[in-house]
Amino acid sequence: MNTVLVGAQWGDEGKGKVIDFLTEEADVVVRFQGGSNAGHTVVVGDKKYVLHLVPSGVLHEGKHCVIGNGVVMDPFDLMKELEQVESWGFELKGRFHISERAHMVMQWHRAIDRAEEAARPAGRKIGTTGRGIGPAYAAKVGRYGMRVGDILKPNFLDVVRAQVEDANRALEALGAHTLDAEEMVKLYTPMVAALMPYVTDTIQFMHESLEAGKSVLFEGAQATMLDVDFGTYPFVTSSNPTAGGACTGSGVSPRAIDRVIGVLKLYTTRVGEGPFPTELKDADGETLRRRGGEFGATTGRPRRCGWFDAVVARYAQRVNGVDFWAMTKLDVLDEFETVKICTGYRRDDGFVYQTFPADLAVLDRCEPVYEELPGWKCETSHVTRYEDLPENARKYVERVLELVGGKLGVLSVGPARETTLRIGV
Ligand code: GDP
Ligand code: IMO
Ligand code: MG
Repeated sequence: MNTVLVGAQWGDEGKGKVIDFLTEEADVVVRFQGGSNAGHTVVVGDKKYVLHLVPSGVLHEGKHCVIGNGVVMDPFDLMKELEQVESWGFELKGRFHISERAHMVMQWHRAIDRAEEAARPAGRKIGTTGRGIGPAYAAKVGRYGMRVGDILKPNFLDVVRAQVEDANRALEALGAHTLDAEEMVKLYTPMVAALMPYVTDTIQFMHESLEAGKSVLFEGAQATMLDVDFGTYPFVTSSNPTAGGACTGSGVSPRAIDRVIGVLKLYTTRVGEGPFPTELKDADGETLRRRGGEFGATTGRPRRCGWFDAVVARYAQRVNGVDFWAMTKLDVLDEFETVKICTGYRRDDGFVYQTFPADLAVLDRCEPVYEELPGWKCETSHVTRYEDLPENARKYVERVLELVGGKLGVLSVGPARETTLRIGV
C-alpha cells in the first residue's frame, strides 16, 4: 500500500503526527517537496519531537527515510537535525538517504529570501519562513541551482565562489549585506564529508523498494492552499505540496500510488500573510490559538486562527483526489457553545462562491456564509472509539464530511501518538 499524505489547508494540520501514526505499517517514508520551512511535530509520551527536513517516520527504528529529488535541502539545517535525531537515540546509518538530485538551499538563498521580504512593500509581503525556499526553487527552475550531487564534484568550491559573486549582485541591488566568498568556501568544506555517506540515487532506491513490495508513505509538507499552482498565489510557498508533487518529487509513477490521505484540521489556521476568509480576530480566535497551541513549529510566530472552511477543504479534496481524511484537533473545539462551518463566500452583490476563486481581489468583496452547530462542551481527548464521542462532536465531523466529500480514515483528539482513532484506513 503506497500512500500520499498531504495538508488540505494552509499547513500545520498535524501531518507529522499522522505520518508517525501511519509509519507503523510503512517501510519507507519520503519527503518530496519543500525544505526546512516545514515544522512537523510528533508527541510520544511526554516527549515532543519537531522535524523540519528529516521525514517524521524517523522515530520508528528500522524504517527508511528519504529526502526526495523535489526537496530543497539546507545542508546546515540538515546536519543540525541529524545530530538532534541521533541525540534522541535514533540510529540513522543505513536507513537515511538523500537524493543526489535534490537541490540545496545555500546561505545566499537565505540572505536573498530575507532581503526580498524586507524590500516588499506592506500588502505585498509574503511572511516567508526565511529559510531560503523561494530563492532555492528560483535557482532550480532558472537552471543555476546547486544539486546535492554537486558536493561530490571536484569543482564544488569553485561553483560556490561563482555563485556567491552572482548572489552578491542581487543582494546589493536589494540594499542588503553581501557575503564573503572565501568565508562561504570555509563554511561548506566540512559539510561535504558529513553528508557524503547519505547521498545516493534515491530514484533507484525507491524503485527497488517498490519492486520488493515495500510500502511507501509520501510525506507532504506545507499544504494545498500554499501550493504554487493551487494556493493563494502569490501568498504561497514555491513548490507543489499537493498529491501530484509526490510523483515529480520522488521519481515514482502515479500508477504506484494506491491512496491519498488529506490531513484536515477541524478549524483553520494560517501563518504568514495572505487571504484567510474565516479568520477570527476576536475571543473565539484567541480560544482556538490557546487551546490549539497555535504557534509556529519553525518560526514560533502566532498562527492566525479561524473557523473550519469547507470551501477550502472541498477544493483540496478535488485537487488531491483525497480518499481518506485524517481529521485533527477535534479536542480544541471542546469548550465552544457553538461551532461554525463556512460553506461559501458571499460577494457584495449576493453571488455565492462554492469553490475557491483564483482572483484574490474577489475575496475582499466577500463574507463567509456560516452554518452554526451546537458544541459538545466536554473533553474528547480521552476517547478511544468513535462511537464514544459526544453526539454533537460526531454530528460536527459528519457534517464536515458531507460538505467536503471523501471518507473518514483517522480522527485525532490530542497531540500524543495514543490520542488517535483509526476509523476507515
Ligand atoms: P504539521 O506541520 O502539519 O506536521 O503540524 P505542526 O506540527 O506544525 O502543528 C500541529 C500541532 O498540533 C502540533 O503541536 C501537534 O502536536 C498538535 N496536534 C496534532 N494533532 C492534534 C490533535 O488532535 N489535538 C491537539 N490538541 N493537538 C494536536
Ligand atoms: P508545515 O509543513 C505553515 C508559509 C509561510 C509563508 C509561506 C511562504 O509545517 O505545514 P516559505 O518560507 O515557504 O517561502 O513561506 O508559506 N509556510 C508554512 N505555513 N506550515 C508550513 O509547513 C509552512 N511552510 C511555509 O508562513 O506564509
Ligand atoms: Mg508545521
